[in-house]
Amino acid sequence: MSTTKPIAVVTGGAGFIGSHMVDLLLASGYRVRILDNLQGGHLSNLAHVAKNPDVVLEQGDIRTLEPESALFQDVQQVYHFAGIGDIVPSMEQPIDYMATNVQGTVRVLEAARHGGKGSLQRFVYAASSSCYGLAATPTREEFPMQPQYPYALSKNLGEQVVMHWRQVYGMPVNSMRIFNAYGPRVRTTGAYGAVFGVFFRQKLAGTPYTVVGDGTQTRDFIYVTDVVRAFYMAACSPHEGEIFNVGANNPQSVLRLVELLGGEVVFVPKRPGEPDCTWAETGKINQLVGWYPQVDFSTGVRNMLQNIERWQDAPLWDVQSIAKATESWFKYLGKEG
Ligand SMILES: NC(=O)c1ccc[n+]([C@@H]2O[C@H](COP(=O)([O-])OP(=O)(O)OC[C@H]3O[C@@H](n4cnc5c(N)ncnc54)[C@H](O)[C@@H]3O)[C@@H](O)[C@H]2O)c1
Repeated sequence: MSTTKPIAVVTGGAGFIGSHMVDLLLASGYRVRILDNLQGGHLSNLAHVAKNPDVVLEQGDIRTLEPESALFQDVQQVYHFAGIGDIVPSMEQPIDYMATNVQGTVRVLEAARHGGKGSLQRFVYAASSSCYGLAATPTREEFPMQPQYPYALSKNLGEQVVMHWRQVYGMPVNSMRIFNAYGPRVRTTGAYGAVFGVFFRQKLAGTPYTVVGDGTQTRDFIYVTDVVRAFYMAACSPHEGEIFNVGANNPQSVLRLVELLGGEVVFVPKRPGEPDCTWAETGKINQLVGWYPQVDFSTGVRNMLQNIERWQDAPLWDVQSIAKATESWFKYLGKEG
């Protein structure tokens, strides 16, 4: 009977990673309550579970969430994904980023603290590897925080808030620093950014891939089902109060992605503030949680290509439109050069 099932709340559950979290929790026997304002997420990401009696979707904003919210009543696990991403908009609208990613996190914590009194087992926060900035690699959790732009700062401050709620209120928390998540339902709209959306749309249009720099820069891409399995395993593990890197520990170059996709390339200028390599040292999560990624890069890309038509309505970028879209990037981050 569904009344005996444990309850999980997923903020941002209509988004890319959050919707996969919903799938995993349902498969693991949870009732799932989703809070999402659909700013970046889509109902289509949840269409396959819309009729599931174990799913509740509240279309609401974490910036106005009240501590007494019924959605969090008797909750056992909270997964906090709601937030706004992307580098350029964070430089242009820093107030929104702090209000959502920092103050919004405070409100989600307070709702979890009140609603989860006596029931909350774990609060898991979606942190970002961008907090490391231009770090040495492979990057370990104890490396210094060096956010290069307001998005990275806001995610890092959100993590500090989460750890502070543990210190002051004794809340059981984990923070998961996600590297480059990719996979089905990755965002197709919005600002210029993540390489997958850009390249997939260009592949559909038959236009050249706009490779940044010389394309030898590497990213620690991690498949989305592996990401949410890391969150769930951390939530169920006895290791609480911990920060974990969530990456493949296997960086791939942008040119490798081009090779897997096939097609012509053009080059656009390398951008300030972006690392040449992101690379998660994952020994901590391997040892404490027993988590290892299962989907290798070529398999993950192949899975995504099966639904490439999903990118038909995504913006089609070219050298000129990218130069325009990244003007603020060079303006604000290129000063030392
Ligand atoms: N995708 C990555 O590679 C990556 C890497 C590091 C960290 N993260 C973090 O993981 C989380 C999820 O990322 P994603 O890639 O799935 O992004 P996404 O945009 O697909 O998902 C974010 C969700 O949050 C919702 N949301 C935004 N503002 C909200 C608000 N004020 N109230 C309620 N809901 C709101 C959006 O509608 C969306 O559904 C984010 O917090 C992001 O910072 C993602």
